[in-house]
Amino acid sequence: RYMKRQVACRGDIDSLNAPMLAIYESLIPAEEEMAKQKQLLALLEKIVCKEWPEARLYLYGSCANSFGFSKSDIDVCLTIADADTNKSEVLLKLADLLQLENLQNVQALTRARVPIVKLMDPVTGISGDICINNVLAVVNTKLLRDYACIDVRLRQLAFIVKHWAKSRGVNETYQGTLSSYAYVLMCIHFLQQRRPAILPCLQGMKTTYCVNVDNIECAYFDQVENLFGFGSHNGESIAQLIWGFFSYWAYCHDYANDVISVRTGTILSKRTKDWTRRIGNDRHLICIEDPFELSHDLGRVVDKYSIRVLREEFERAAEIMQYDPNPCVKLFEPY
Ligand code: CTP
Ligand code: MG
Repeated sequence: RYMKRQVACRGDIDSLNAPMLAIYESLIPAEEEMAKQKQLLALLEKIVCKEWPEARLYLYGSCANSFGFSKSDIDVCLTIADADTNKSEVLLKLADLLQLENLQNVQALTRARVPIVKLMDPVTGISGDICINNVLAVVNTKLLRDYACIDVRLRQLAFIVKHWAKSRGVNETYQGTLSSYAYVLMCIHFLQQRRPAILPCLQGMKTTYCVNVDNIECAYFDQVENLFGFGSHNGESIAQLIWGFFSYWAYCHDYANDVISVRTGTILSKRTKDWTRRIGNDRHLICIEDPFELSHDLGRVVDKYSIRVLREEFERAAEIMQYDPNPCVKLFEPY
């Protein structure tokens, strides 16, 4: 069994609360940015519904899950019946319509893993991607947003972790490091595991929201306004949690055997998931179970080289949080 290294955090850890919160505040998008995103969505809805009256548009990803930074692009999902057989055709048609309405930089990427149309709106200056029938992403976006309503420390921790990951170059799935979505799941799981817990396990509670997407039942307790104050028995500060998060991934996580699971709020074993060996390109060197698509390991992009990069970055961050005189600068130093 992996040796868990227990260390006490530095005595002056709470002096880092105010500067960490200042960084968090500086990354939050302003109200008018959100208004512009809504405005662009309304424009896109008008264009799409002229051609396909039954179609619907949904925001997903960081513009809708409450983990988005200021100045991010928007992710939009177009739902339309029967598009699955001819997605490329729909995307090409959509690209034509957008171009006719004077959207800029319109580009249909029909061969991407997730086929999309890219666009830029000259009026609001916002760029975005539109994908088709990616309803699971819309639903997992809602799950993340609902978790964020329960305790503000989730949003604070995830902003700091995402900012760290972007600064250190470990938020690039095409280079074998993790997606923002994976980092947010890691934060949720970490807060579910605190004692007392700071977040509950919504999928383990009474079902108040249930949709069936591509034969996957997505069910959980979504009346999160009733859970406000859930984490108040735990008084850990944001600086303590940032320190704890990096220490966990640097020294405590059992990479050989463990799978983190937001769905169950627990750690599962790779054996029970049958994630013990490499199949094709899936290596399972760090295992993060998708909350709905249970066969999906968000860590599958990580290879034997990038796992070293990731673990060294977790260790660097943990050491900085423990010993550095100026962690709020050092942690986010460009690599
Ligand atoms: N997503 C997913 N499965 C993945 C990666 C992403 O379902 N393996 C979906 C999620 O709904 C996620 C969205 O795609 O919210 C966008 O993913 P990502 O770009 O990783 O997250 P963002 O929150 O948009 O972060 P960023 O601010 O870095 O753009
Ligand atoms: Mg995104």
